Amino acid sequence: MMHLSSFFTVVVIALVFSFKSAAVDTNLSFVQCLCTYSHNSSSISKVVYTKTNSSYSSILHISIQNLRFASNKTPKPLVIITPQEVFHIQAVIICSQRHGLQVRIRSGGHDFEGLSYVAKVPYVVIDLINFREIEINVKNSTAWVQSGATVGELYYKISEKSKTLGFPAGAFPTVGVGGQFGGGGYGFLLRKYGLAADNVIDAHIIDVEGRLLDREGMGEDLFWAIRGGGGASFGVILAWKIKLVPVPPTVTVLRASRTLEQNATKLVHRWQLVGSKLDEDTGLGILLHRINSSNNGEPTIEALFQATYLGGVDQFIDLMQEKFPELGLKREECAEMSWIESVLFFVGFQRRELLLNRSQTITDSFKAKSDFVRTPIPEVALEGLWQLFYEDGAQGATMIVFPFGGIMDNISESEIPFPHRSGNLYLVQYSVHWLEEGDEVVQKHISWIRRLYSYMEPFVSNSPRAAYANYRDLDIGVNNKGFTSYNQATVWGFKYFKNNFKRLAHVKTKVDPSNFFRNEQSIPSLLPQGHK
Ligand SMILES: Cc1cc2nc3c(=O)[nH]c(=O)nc-3n(C[C@H](O)[C@H](O)[C@H](O)COP(=O)(O)OP(=O)(O)OC[C@H]3O[C@@H](n4cnc5c(N)ncnc54)[C@H](O)[C@@H]3O)c2cc1C
Ligand SMILES: *[C@@H]1O[C@H](CO)[C@@H](O)[C@H](O)[C@H]1NC(C)=O
Ligand SMILES: *[C@@H]1O[C@H](CO)[C@@H](O)[C@H](O)[C@H]1NC(C)=O
Ligand SMILES: *[C@@H]1O[C@H](CO)[C@@H](O)[C@H](O)[C@H]1NC(C)=O
Ligand SMILES: *[C@@H]1O[C@H](CO)[C@@H](O)[C@H](O)[C@H]1NC(C)=O
Ligand SMILES: *[C@@H]1O[C@H](CO)[C@@H](O)[C@H](O)[C@H]1NC(C)=O
Ligand SMILES: *[C@@H]1O[C@H](CO)[C@@H](O)[C@H](O)[C@H]1NC(C)=O
Ligand SMILES: *[C@@H]1O[C@H](CO)[C@@H](O)[C@H](O)[C@H]1NC(C)=O
Ligand SMILES: *[C@@H]1O[C@H](CO)[C@@H](O)[C@H](O)[C@H]1NC(C)=O
Repeated sequence: MMHLSSFFTVVVIALVFSFKSAAVDTNLSFVQCLCTYSHNSSSISKVVYTKTNSSYSSILHISIQNLRFASNKTPKPLVIITPQEVFHIQAVIICSQRHGLQVRIRSGGHDFEGLSYVAKVPYVVIDLINFREIEINVKNSTAWVQSGATVGELYYKISEKSKTLGFPAGAFPTVGVGGQFGGGGYGFLLRKYGLAADNVIDAHIIDVEGRLLDREGMGEDLFWAIRGGGGASFGVILAWKIKLVPVPPTVTVLRASRTLEQNATKLVHRWQLVGSKLDEDTGLGILLHRINSSNNGEPTIEALFQATYLGGVDQFIDLMQEKFPELGLKREECAEMSWIESVLFFVGFQRRELLLNRSQTITDSFKAKSDFVRTPIPEVALEGLWQLFYEDGAQGATMIVFPFGGIMDNISESEIPFPHRSGNLYLVQYSVHWLEEGDEVVQKHISWIRRLYSYMEPFVSNSPRAAYANYRDLDIGVNNKGFTSYNQATVWGFKYFKNNFKRLAHVKTKVDPSNFFRNEQSIPSLLPQGHK
């Protein structure tokens, strides 16, 4: 699979098309363009969904993860294309430019702000649902995985072939490989093996001219940029070649609940000093949220400690006794299992096959934000934080903290665009989820999480206050609809990418000078006329 075939060269590469900005054309003529520029128009017409198609809505909603962007008021694409062939994508890229339409690229649809399927200008969606082949090469510990696959599908395919190989991507199985690898991607194996993007060794991308390029063809600058800089600024990433990583036949999982009455505040405080220093074979994260106490029904805060350890339970308990005795870990809070079972364990799946079910996910409305913490937050500040979780707007709120350290300290900040390495104790994800509809409810939760974010300001990284690109947050700054200067974009760009932002902008200027691939947080072109 994934050999660069030559047929497309004949089809589209030869096309030299003008970049003259065309007025937005009718839907029909865009679709006609697709057919004209595909050598097999009968084949492309089968993957084109216009608004009048009865399947349009179900295709659009197939992977919308955040219901905040699924209402009647949300802008909708003129056309959705679910390509089955490379030339389908090439045709969309060319015809969208001709017809002045923006393109949004969707793999798993988990973007926190819905950027893969929502735009405020006329646009089309390329949904990669049909590009999800996975080829595992056990002998060489590598795999080719197409962007439309989910990380759950990837884990499943690895486990079919080997019990001692894994991959350090996210814990949540329905997330798309396309978005996640492009923005970094981390899970329980982070401290030993780094990010998903750290383990990418080749990729296939279709660029603004419709060329299909592998690592050699795209060059090291672009290959650097798409491993953490977000694919959507540069082209359509079709597939990734990844390095699989060794895991032992038996791993240990930990899940331990501690409420405020069980000294959660002290434990969280202590964890801040311990988490990033533990053996790299473990990643001990904490999920924090409000619950009703089991004794008296009064609200309290639960700290749910969760870890995977790449080794047996005895070793793990010894390790925790030595490094974090305050937790008072009990053996029954741990369990031994295979690595793939540990993946299932944390999402509560009973069967491995559920990893293949792309709708196996709770969809609700949510807003999330992120931070990096570099010095421990004082206990008294944690107590103030808990107070915020008792507010009305915090219903459905969680805060997840995950330790860095380990191999993250060994990788330079400029190795790939993801810059958050040495010196970070942990990453924080704040989120608030709700099911009700209506502006008032939305405002209540969103203003709550914004207040939480300002409360945290003194305790987290600053200059810049760093954020994780995969936890997209439009509150930290957006591009203009038209031209956006590099300086303006640094407002959000430095938070995600620090000093790598400049190099990202240089790569962008080289590969997509006219800024065709753009969105509210795409890397700007440095050319002054860089927008169409
Ligand atoms: C429930 C949930 C759990 C999560 N868990 C984790 C976790 O454990 N670890 C972690 O690191 N992150 C996690 N995330 C964040 C997740 O990694 C990002 O939201 C990621 O970008 C989603 O990828 P996607 O393909 O599903 O999303 P999409 O919405 O399809 O895409 C996200 C962005 O990438 C672009 N993009 C997608 N595919 C391509 C492509 N093929 N070529 C070019 N650009 C593309 C889109 O245009 C969009 O800008 C989680 C998110 C959710 C909603
Ligand atoms: C495309 O078609 C839809 C529905 O048929 C219509 O509402 C919309 O205005 C059309 N857009 C353009 C740009 O023609
Ligand atoms: C065109 O596509 C159709 C449907 O995918 C297929 O049946 C047909 O063989 C293709 N024709 C050519 C010339 O490739
Ligand atoms: C909707 O679009 C799909 C894909 O192009 C096509 O196969 C189907 O026939 C269309 N359905 C209708 C009712 O137009
Ligand atoms: C493994 O990699 C080597 C060296 O890159 C290559 O020659 C060989 O064909 C690969 N083996 C398989 C099974 O792909
Ligand atoms: C909480 O900590 C105190 C001392 O700091 C200790 O005496 C007490 O046993 C702890 N409570 C629990 C439930 O662990
Ligand atoms: C907790 O208690 C409150 C008030 O009694 C109730 O409204 C809420 O549903 C309870 N939450 C849970 C998760 O049980
Ligand atoms: C996938 O999961 C959803 C939600 O749990 C369920 O409704 C559906 O039947 C499942 N599909 C398959 C094929 O198992
Ligand atoms: C990080 O580098 C140190 C020193 O070279 C080494 O001992 C350690 O094993 C490395 N950590 C990881 C997780 O690779």
